[in-house]
Parts: sequence; structure tokens; C-alpha cells
Amino acid sequence: MTLYRAQVLDVPRDPFHGGELRAESDCGLLVAGGVITERGSFTAVRARHADEPVRDLRGGLLLPGLVDTHVHFPQLRAIGALGMPLLEWLDRYALPEEARFADAGYARTVAREFVAAVADAGTTTALVFGAHFAPAVDALFEAAADRGLRVTSGLVVGDRYLRPELLTTARRAYDEGRALAARWHGTGRNRYAVSPRFSLSCTDDLLASCAELHADVGGSWFTSHLNENRDEIARVRELFGCDYLGSYHRHGLIGPRSVFAHNVHPDDAELKLLAASGARVAHCPTSNAALGSGLFPLDAHLAHGVGVALGSDVGAGAGFSLFKEVLQAYFIQRLRGPRGVPLTAAHLLYLATGAGADALGLGEAVGDLSAGKQFDAMWLSPPAGTALAAGLAHARDPDDALGKVFALATPADVRCSWVAGTRVK
Ligand code: GUN
Ligand code: ZN
Repeated sequence: MTLYRAQVLDVPRDPFHGGELRAESDCGLLVAGGVITERGSFTAVRARHADEPVRDLRGGLLLPGLVDTHVHFPQLRAIGALGMPLLEWLDRYALPEEARFADAGYARTVAREFVAAVADAGTTTALVFGAHFAPAVDALFEAAADRGLRVTSGLVVGDRYLRPELLTTARRAYDEGRALAARWHGTGRNRYAVSPRFSLSCTDDLLASCAELHADVGGSWFTSHLNENRDEIARVRELFGCDYLGSYHRHGLIGPRSVFAHNVHPDDAELKLLAASGARVAHCPTSNAALGSGLFPLDAHLAHGVGVALGSDVGAGAGFSLFKEVLQAYFIQRLRGPRGVPLTAAHLLYLATGAGADALGLGEAVGDLSAGKQFDAMWLSPPAGTALAAGLAHARDPDDALGKVFALATPADVRCSWVAGTRVK
């Protein structure tokens, strides 16, 4: 057992529905077997466990591990392209890079870079958009297992629109997905996600095979893109003769284990269906800004009761840090004027932690630092002499401290992180 002593901030209940920021300035968390078995003031927990070793994390903030609900593994080296909208960016930038993952050696190298970058950012759980090549997806799962992260991922599939070397068939997509799931779904912390790239790149036959795979792999997740860019949306309507969500819905792909990235331009019927089915949306703020996709209508999602979490969307997104996404999410709501949702520190921390855990069905296990939960945590401890260190030392209160974190923190400020009590950074 280890007793962690720290200033702990978390948001145990959804602040969009009455929850609040919980702040304990001298908190004790007793961790045994990776689980927080007791939580209270340090003095009280210490009095009950005088002999346990203490890990002193004062002088920083202990936060729940961050949860990234949309990040592309084969786009690590594609981060930072400027000046293109979605379809041009895919064609000129992202897809040529993804084609390189046909080489399993290349995929293994980037897989290690990828899990290191995710852990470095303080992210402990991620829904990862995989690669179009099964050995590359094996490489990702292997690297995630070595590092100890909680990763849900799968083979990305498309049978039209993409470069020829990325195309598959409905049969092959099913067979390769089934074999990957047999190797990795439920192995350690890995889980399988059925992942058609987006309906623009999928025929009805392929989406039907995805539905079959999703049904046959019990407890699998489903993820794809939705309503990101107006040109893309118009093309989906031409191809399928329905709204974007309808292209997935007609194959039964919308449910509580579905996570759709973006949804910048939904209509009311789509929001109603998302809410009724319990599907979640991964809001990807830096990506939406970088590709000029649009300003996310958080108000409409909240009004309809659609669950929203955050995704970095590397490589259209501007890096692995969910603090950057949180800040951009906040900016975007400010820029929406009267339609913007005023986001507090509690909302923002929740979006990066508990909301993601819930979206991935892991809300019972992770997302905050309550007794009974896994010890998935990150210690933010900025180097002395930095603006963040000075700001935290002089913060007025916990909300103020978090505002400074969202404005200033980078992966360099994440001193260490744990998954189920084991160090991953
Ligand atoms: N839609 C289909 N593929 C992608 C992708 O790789 N990134 C983003 N942002 N949108 C997509
Ligand atoms: Zn994406």
C-alpha cells in the first residue's frame, strides 16, 4: 500500500448536471492493488495507517488521469499541417502518412512514439483511431500494453474514396477485425473498437460488415467521424440519400458504446437520435479550428442531452495535451457569443476526465479520484521559475489554479502519471 499526499482536484459528478469541483488542499489517498481504498484529509488517513509509506506530492496538483476520446495513432508525424480544410488535408497530408503503416517496422516505431506521447501528456485512457493495416494495429496494442495505458482501438476500414493501398473489402474488414479482437479485446487494459474511417469512405456493404463485427465481438466499441465539414456532409448526403448519422444508423451502429468525433454541424434530428441512443460525441477543438471545420455547438448538444467528451484528434489537432484542447474548447464557446456555453474550471476538468471515462463506459473505474476507483492520476508539478509554478503558488483558489493550468500547462509540467497505481510516466 502507498499513501499519496497531495492537493487533489477532481470533478466526481457531471457539472453540467449539478456536479462541482472538489478540492482538497492536503488530501490523503491510500492506494492498494491499484485501487484507492481510502480518501480523506491526510492527517486522518495517516492516523489510521501510520506504517504505510507516504509519497509526498505537495507543491503541485494531483488530478485524475486525462481521457482522450479521439486520437489517431498513425498521424503522430502528420501534426502541424497548415492551411487546408478536411478533405484536402486527408488527401495531401494524413492519408499519404497513413499509407506508410503498411510497413510493420515503421508502425512499431511510431506505435512506441505514440504511446510515449500520450503518456507524456498525462493521458491515461484513450479511444485511439488505429491504422488501416492489421499488423500496425497489433503494434499499437502491444505498445499500449507494454506502457500500461488503457487503450480502446481497432482496424480502420474504408472501401472507397481513399488511396488504393488503404482500401479493403467487407469480408476482409470483418475477418481481420475479428482476428485482432480475438488477440486484444479484453487483453489487459486493451479493448476493441470497430472503426470505419467515415461514411464517405464506406459502402453500405462495408458498414454492414462493421455492424456484424460489432455484434459478434461482445463489449466492443464503435467509433467514427460525424458531421465535421460542410463539403464532406454534402457528399455523404449525395451518396447515402440521408443525413450523416443516418448513414450509420441504418446499420444499427448508434448506441451507448458508440463515440462519434466532431459533430460540428448536426441537425436536431441527429442530436435527438444521439441522445436517445446514449451515443457520445468527442469534441475536438484544436482540430476543428486548424481545419476551419467550424465552432462546436455545445449548447445544442447539452440542450438535447448528448454526452460530450474531448478528443485531441492528433494529427489534425495540435498535439497530445488535453489541456490545450480544454483551453481551445473554452475559447470556442467564448467566440460563439450569446450561443456560447460559459465554461467553468469544473466543466473543463470534467470534459477532460469524467466525461471521457463515461463515454468509454469506464466511469465506474476511472475519471475521478474517489475511494473505490482505480488510481489513474497525474501529478502536475511545473518546474520552478516557470510562469505556471509562480501562478500556482499564488492562485487565489482552486478554480483560479485550474484556469492557470489550462492556460499554461504543457506535457513538461506533468511530472508523473499512474494507471491503476503503476507509473506510466
Ligand atoms: N475524417 C475521416 N478521417 C479523418 C481524419 O483522419 N481526421 C479528421 N479530423 N477527420 C477525418
Ligand atoms: Zn479524427
